[in-house]
Amino acid sequence: MCGIIGYIGNRQATPLLVGGLRKLEYRGYDSAGVSVLDPGNGATSRVVRCRGKLANLEEKLNKEPAPGTVGIGHTRWATHGRPSDENSHPHKVGAISIIHNGIIENHLALRAELHAAGAKFSSETDTEIFAHLVDQQLTAGAENLTVAVRRALQKVRGSYAFVVMSDKEPGTLVAAKNSSPLVVGLGEGENFVASDVTAILSETRKVIFIDEGEIVTVTRDGVAITDFEGKPRHREPKIITWSAVQAEKGGFKHFMLKEIHEQPRAVADTLTGRIDLEGDDVRLDGVELDVKSIKRIVFIACGTSYHASLVGEFLVESLARIPVEVDLASEFRYRDPIVGPGDLVIAISQSGETLDTMEAIREAKKKGATVLAISNVVESSIPRLADHSFYTHAGPEIGVASTKAFTTQLVAISLLAIYLGRRNGALSRERARTLLGELVQLPNKMRDVVDMSAHLQVLARRYGHADGFLFLGRGAQYPIALEGALKLKEISYIHAEGYAAGEMKHGPIALIDEHLPVVVLVPKGPSYDKTVSNLAEVRARQGKVLAIATRGDNEIGSHADDVVLVPDTAVELQPILTVLPLQMLSYYVADLKGTDVDQPRNLAKSVTVE
Ligand code: F6R
Repeated sequence: MCGIIGYIGNRQATPLLVGGLRKLEYRGYDSAGVSVLDPGNGATSRVVRCRGKLANLEEKLNKEPAPGTVGIGHTRWATHGRPSDENSHPHKVGAISIIHNGIIENHLALRAELHAAGAKFSSETDTEIFAHLVDQQLTAGAENLTVAVRRALQKVRGSYAFVVMSDKEPGTLVAAKNSSPLVVGLGEGENFVASDVTAILSETRKVIFIDEGEIVTVTRDGVAITDFEGKPRHREPKIITWSAVQAEKGGFKHFMLKEIHEQPRAVADTLTGRIDLEGDDVRLDGVELDVKSIKRIVFIACGTSYHASLVGEFLVESLARIPVEVDLASEFRYRDPIVGPGDLVIAISQSGETLDTMEAIREAKKKGATVLAISNVVESSIPRLADHSFYTHAGPEIGVASTKAFTTQLVAISLLAIYLGRRNGALSRERARTLLGELVQLPNKMRDVVDMSAHLQVLARRYGHADGFLFLGRGAQYPIALEGALKLKEISYIHAEGYAAGEMKHGPIALIDEHLPVVVLVPKGPSYDKTVSNLAEVRARQGKVLAIATRGDNEIGSHADDVVLVPDTAVELQPILTVLPLQMLSYYVADLKGTDVDQPRNLAKSVTVE
């Protein structure tokens, strides 16, 4: 998501910080800033930050220079609080300057506590809370910045990487990590800290990767790592041999592959702070809907987001028992849709900028419907146009083919369906508890699946030469069949069709012969037996079957040529696991064919034309 860099040494920090942030630009951001201090000159840090691109920051720095040899810099991709000058990092409280990646899960409770103790806030961010906590610990007598950070961390829940600097201890930067990446770069008489190797690669290739639950104290001459209890940890530096471009991709060959592997974390971030396990309920970041007045839900979206909406139909109807319609945004607006008061229109858009979806929202609003947007980009046009908005926390998606944006949309829709069902009484407390428990376990189960890449590579080699593919599924797996086909065709240029498995006999069965690979989504659940029958129909016609099934299914091997087994979960959440092998299959087939995986021909990441 956001980008972090820190420097401590003998050179002027500002150009190094801005240069490092420039290397992180590809990740996407909406504001940037630095805090720099001159240890020999009164050591009062100067914070310069602003909304918009780095060029805006540079312009501001030309007018208000920030001299000094110690500093921290940040590019922010908004999660809590809109993109604005005030919400940009660094945040300064007293002598403390702070930058942060990630999310503080218990920020509301901490804010209330600090407010009651007299703290004044100058931003809407969760980050500023941590600056107050560190300041509070120093006022309470913590002997140094490292101890203050360690004590402050005990109050914080969530995923984060922090870098903290103090005017009172100008020879030190303190950083901490839990779930967000952090790396220290070692130089001669100078050291760096960053969220990504890319930011510091032009200055040093000698690095130490910081592990979960570690605090690192960085001075000009050294680095000391401890755990959160203060127990020292030792780690040998590594020499990075990646090129700058490889480093941007975190060592993966393509952004798409990196993003496939980022999904467990993206899903964990999207769940953070939203599950109330004690109340068996969901919090939607302050979104309050009058659920009992909703007569119907209409999803509108395009492409992959449309497929997420089709899963949404299944989820909302089964968990909240509210009638649902799903429409392609580009169709909805031109057919004079019957929509109005009593309808909740849910617009799903990763980018938040898709013109078809925006126009469909305008149409729905004009006719009196309430609109809720689910997007991955805070303050993008679609959430701004909607009455309510709710965000996925996938982080910027660079690969044109959507992967982590899709699975986090499915998570957001699952949360929404539980929210609706709990409020209109359709979903029992017990069922909600089971589903929330399953949601919490998803990141680990997803990790299990993305770790199967070697198997998917073998399957890509076995089937990737085919001229066409068919994907089949029933229920919530039908949209996954559509998504599997879309993913394969957009990046490998192989023709693929997704079909409802029960519909195959009504036409596409004519395509089946020994040359056609058929990918069948057949996890354990109410449609299992019926889907196995469809699979038998394929094999009876010499079609080659690759089944995506549930781990522990000992029967499926006898019905298919190849099997990929994913962990078991609730039927409603299975799409979040079954789509992963399809993304990987598409990726490896495309990579074998040597197509431009991250920027497939004719496609754009944000479709702002009709
Ligand atoms: C496919 C893909 C597209 C988008 C579609 C809508 O991998 O990414 O089909 O899903 O263009 O984009 P958003 O979600 O940004 O509205």
